[in-house]
Amino acid sequence: MSFCLAVLGATGLVGRTMLQVLEERAFPVGELRLLASDRSLGSELRFRGRAHAVRVPEPEAFTGVQLALFACSNELSQQWAPVALERGARVVDNSSAFRYQEDVPLVVPEVNGDRLAARPRLVANPNCSTIQLVVALEPLRRAAGLARVVVATYQSVSGAGAEALERMEREARASLGGADLDGAARPAPLAFNAVPMIDRLEPNGYSREEMKIVWETRKILGLPGLAITATAARVPVRVGHSEAVNVALEQPLTVEEARAAWRAAPGVRLVDDPEKGSYPMPLLAAGSDEVLVGRVRRDLSQPNGLDFWVVGDNLRKGAATNAVQIAEELVRAEVGSR
Ligand SMILES: NC(=O)c1ccc[n+]([C@@H]2O[C@H](COP(=O)([O-])OP(=O)(O)OC[C@H]3O[C@@H](n4cnc5c(N)ncnc54)[C@H](OP(=O)(O)O)[C@@H]3O)[C@@H](O)[C@H]2O)c1
Repeated sequence: MSFCLAVLGATGLVGRTMLQVLEERAFPVGELRLLASDRSLGSELRFRGRAHAVRVPEPEAFTGVQLALFACSNELSQQWAPVALERGARVVDNSSAFRYQEDVPLVVPEVNGDRLAARPRLVANPNCSTIQLVVALEPLRRAAGLARVVVATYQSVSGAGAEALERMEREARASLGGADLDGAARPAPLAFNAVPMIDRLEPNGYSREEMKIVWETRKILGLPGLAITATAARVPVRVGHSEAVNVALEQPLTVEEARAAWRAAPGVRLVDDPEKGSYPMPLLAAGSDEVLVGRVRRDLSQPNGLDFWVVGDNLRKGAATNAVQIAEELVRAEVGSR
């Protein structure tokens, strides 16, 4: 059995990665419709060795579509998700347009994949930083309970889309050519810089990205009262988000017990032999679907505390792979219901 699939935002960083992941995982694609802006009209993308023309979204483009993967802005998701749903498609959306609606499941299959059993029509894919965080937190939550989480992110530039990546590369070339990057400029330079503001500033002083991590971690883990605080920064890395995580656990858990929990957990790779120079890094995580965990140590400042470092490929597990995993579960549930 194969499915008619549409990808909105197919030419972007996440959209292109989705096509790669769909191909790698042999997703049962029958017909494929690739949608992007009119800037991409006339261009083609290859899927399974065949060139597919890129179209602009219009209502007819969703007629007959069974599964639509959205990798576009909030505004486009808000505009086109109702159209796709109305025409009978199931939608997996990568934007944050629907993530905080109570009736829309926000899913990381390794953590709360059971939310897909009811075959929801619309599923939200979480924020990239949140996905890798909850994959690393879930084994600790199961082993010893979470009392408090403190996370600082070091997020790669591809997390801000294709244009940001091109801008960083232009800035890097200019700077290496002798130009001065003005650190006070707006938007702040991405090359050779660290920018502690991702998305807009919220009235409470956090950035929107930081609040996404707070809201989404609570929703996915099913812990609405979890004490959690985040600082999110953009760093001049091409692909791969890093996170320094500090947790206070409800029960004691040794470093070795924590390592054993991560070793047994789906989607996690323990990379933790610092004496041999083995620790998670973006260059190690890029291209992988696993969340890398390492630099594990007891937090000396509190009982039941642990510090560790988490790295994931934001375009794959942080976006495309997670969305395709959700689509696979929806397809399994669909086939099982027949
Ligand atoms: N990058 C990440 O690591 C990441 C991780 C998790 C979630 N996300 C989310 O995923 C979404 C896509 O991110 P991205 O990084 O892939 O962005 P991107 O590289 O900027 O790609 C944006 C896509 O949207 C298309 N688009 C723009 N305007 C359009 C229009 N008017 N009509 C139809 N298509 C239009 C673009 O088409 P053209 O090429 O024709 O302009 C492109 O295909 C965003 O909501 C983002 O927040 C991204």
